[in-house]
Amino acid sequence: MIKDFMTQDHRDCDTLYAPLEEALSKGDFEKALELFVPFKKAMLKHFAMEEKVLFPKMEEFMGGGEGPIHVMKMEHAQIRSIIDQLGEAIEAKNRDKALGFGETFMIMTQQHNMKEEQILYNMAEQLPIDKEKTLEEMQKVQG
Ligand SMILES: [Fe+2]
Ligand SMILES: [Fe+2]
Repeated sequence: MIKDFMTQDHRDCDTLYAPLEEALSKGDFEKALELFVPFKKAMLKHFAMEEKVLFPKMEEFMGGGEGPIHVMKMEHAQIRSIIDQLGEAIEAKNRDKALGFGETFMIMTQQHNMKEEQILYNMAEQLPIDKEKTLEEMQKVQG
């Protein structure tokens, strides 16, 4: 199921973020930078799975325009920008800034993921898209 697969991927991204936040609160920037790399990679891959595979397939039936998919894409852009700023703050060893961006990242991502898990992925399950093929294509995506 697309919903189960993508919901699990949200959890996997959360699991990569948690130790990064812990390293930041301890002021361990070396560790934080090390943890930031796989975390960012997983987030970008998740967004790419949606933007390159899932959303275009959904748009074939729902149309583009100003609908929920458009909102999801705008939120991705905002979250990507926060992730970049978080990376810069870690490189600059600015603990307060990094923790601030981390907090913003968490709040925005939780709200975003909730909308996808409660609404968007359910819509995907109801649309006549080829679920098996969609899952296969998503797994092949490079961030
Ligand atoms: Fe998303
Ligand atoms: Fe997602």
